[in-house]
Amino acid sequence: MDAGPADLDRLAAAVAASARYRHVCPDLVRSIGACELGRRRSLKQAIKATKDRLHQAAGAYVERRTDYAAHLAALRQAAETGEREPFLQACAQAMASHTSSRERLPILGQFYATTLAGLSPLRSVLDVACGLNPLALPWLPLAAGAAYYAYDIYEDMMAFVSEFLRLAGMAGEARAVDVIAHCPARHVDLALLLKAIPCLERIDAAAGAHLLDTIAADHLLVSFPVRSLCGVAKGMPQSYEAHFVELIAGRGWAVRRFQFASELAFLVSR
Ligand SMILES: C[S@@+](CC[C@H](N)C(=O)[O-])C[C@H]1O[C@@H](n2cnc3c(N)ncnc32)[C@H](O)[C@@H]1O
Repeated sequence: MDAGPADLDRLAAAVAASARYRHVCPDLVRSIGACELGRRRSLKQAIKATKDRLHQAAGAYVERRTDYAAHLAALRQAAETGEREPFLQACAQAMASHTSSRERLPILGQFYATTLAGLSPLRSVLDVACGLNPLALPWLPLAAGAAYYAYDIYEDMMAFVSEFLRLAGMAGEARAVDVIAHCPARHVDLALLLKAIPCLERIDAAAGAHLLDTIAADHLLVSFPVRSLCGVAKGMPQSYEAHFVELIAGRGWAVRRFQFASELAFLVSR
């Protein structure tokens, strides 16, 4: 349709009024919305298409009514015990509210111990399209005084992660950002791009290549799911691996491959 700024305002307001997407950072809604207004025949169709794309990239992974306040209270209570085990349990319980980190829980210790073995204690970590993975930081080999930078599109989720970082005594920040439009360029020891490339490429087909170009990290841990959200595995690891090989072709980076029951990971060192 031939849309003007008022149509984009109406679209953004309609998306913000839906319970599922009201916490999504407005820049991303407007950038997807502008593209859909150009492709669809009516405002109604463009609103539906915008919500569909947000669902595929993000909404499908988040539980509808995640009670962040309750998770924070449980984490504070666990922290007050001064013991590691109750804190780990509270972290795992919170991570279960996001499909991506929930899938990783059964292999969490093994996942980080294997992929990051041999790296010196990390002084800085960037977690791109992080979901609730920052709650896995007690499983990471962090140096004393390390900083953690975490970005995803949900304002409520990032407010929670920000409180969590404070509770865990971490420097750094958690912020709601569209990492495609504003890829964090700060230099870090390790960047995590976990199961994120397929989601981001649903918004912008060039997002994977752009992030690999822009992220400034000595090491980059990139992963892909081995089956879809509805459990279908058909050829997924093979096609994601082929895509990743294509993305990094000609860059001369050292890459190590790790296959887990629920995730295929690559540690890139450069
Ligand atoms: C499959 S999940 C992976 C989450 C996390 N990295 C993990 O593996 O546990 C994809 C994440 O990308 C986030 N996301 C989607 N589009 C984004 C964008 N444009 N900017 C930042 N985050 C985005 C979603 O909200 C979702 O949390």
